Amino acid sequence: VGTLGEADLKGKKVFVRADLNVPLDDAQKITDDTRIRASVPTIKFLLEKGAKVILASHLGRPKGVTPKFSLKPLVPRLSELLGIDVVMANDCIGEEVEKLAAALPDGGVLLLENVRFYKEEEKNDPEFAKKLASVADLYVNDAFGTAHRAHASTEGVTKFLRPSVAGFLMQKELDYLVGAVANPKKPFAAIVGGSKVSSKIGVIESLLAKVDILILGGGMIFTFYKAQGLAVGKSLVEEDKLELATSLIETAKAKGVKLLLPIDVVVADKFAADAESKVVPASAIPDGWMGLDVGPDAIKTFSEALDTCKTIIWNGPMGVFEFEKFAAGTDVSTNLMLCHVSSLRFCHCCLVQFVFPQAIAKQLAELTAKGVTTIIGGGDSVAAVEKAGLADKMSHISTGGGASLELLEGKPLPGVLALDEA
Ligand code: 3PG
Repeated sequence: VGTLGEADLKGKKVFVRADLNVPLDDAQKITDDTRIRASVPTIKFLLEKGAKVILASHLGRPKGVTPKFSLKPLVPRLSELLGIDVVMANDCIGEEVEKLAAALPDGGVLLLENVRFYKEEEKNDPEFAKKLASVADLYVNDAFGTAHRAHASTEGVTKFLRPSVAGFLMQKELDYLVGAVANPKKPFAAIVGGSKVSSKIGVIESLLAKVDILILGGGMIFTFYKAQGLAVGKSLVEEDKLELATSLIETAKAKGVKLLLPIDVVVADKFAADAESKVVPASAIPDGWMGLDVGPDAIKTFSEALDTCKTIIWNGPMGVFEFEKFAAGTDVSTNLMLCHVSSLRFCHCCLVQFVFPQAIAKQLAELTAKGVTTIIGGGDSVAAVEKAGLADKMSHISTGGGASLELLEGKPLPGVLALDEA
């Protein structure tokens, strides 16, 4: 894709599509500003070059104009990070936007209202894309998190603005999720979690062609155990994916990939916060008990395997159930304290939420410092690394959930293809 080079940007109106889809609480307060911060380098670069930035994004999945999905709450944080007063439009197209864009000084930023307030955005309507484009001279796509959507502001608009190039965030995401994965320093390991085999088939199949070691965690492991003839008690199993699990194990063998499943697991006697829990070998899950997470010996074997690697990618949660769901009605902090202090008995909550993700995050941070390339791909794995306070210690943390997953599956992203064509 084309990139932001040394083009003369002075006085140019640049339409920047960012992914400012950040979580807001009930009081419309931003609860995680990562995506805003990740968009800043491109915007700052353009401002320093004397360009006028017309910034667009979606937020949430509104059906029509919905005040709670307005981008207005983002203005103070954006202004603070950029060190200028960001002007906000009440719409993303139309007369007011045209006037505000025309009045924008060099080095000024105009934030447009949520592009998804128009159904034409998701329909990739060419007329709508043309209207978005009409106020600008060129296009920069920095919205990696939305690059898997062929929408008017990510794809359609490139037909009307030349050049259309990638911003710095988009470039960095592609460098790591495509570049580092296609040409990894070896040995290359992937840690893939998730509750269902079905949602990770694409990623596992694609990674099996590239990695030396594949570590599996999350609820899907019980489908793999059952496929290997182990008893899994009441654990979550996708019965219709048993054959698939067997064939993935065989593919790994045929390709010489070391496939690591946890050798021990945490099991509970019921799905409740006051459940009894214990650690058992993966081959000895008692009848009537359900597996919830990987056990401490598994963590040790995973950790030993990771220690030998030069490139590591981690995608997806390793615990089986959402912590909040499982711990409903309990005092979370007490639970964590108890397990942590006693550490004699591994509480399932402690392991799911704390021990495993934190242990992995810590090890990856240490390996990064030794020159290992570490890539955290989207969603819960990113949350675990952030919770451990180690986000800036990894080589790359992806800002895309669905987009990074599709990229790892080897699917082309429409937002990136459009830049290629442009
Ligand atoms: C995301 O949060 O993954 C992106 O912003 C894309 O949002 P979407 O799934 O609503 O298209």
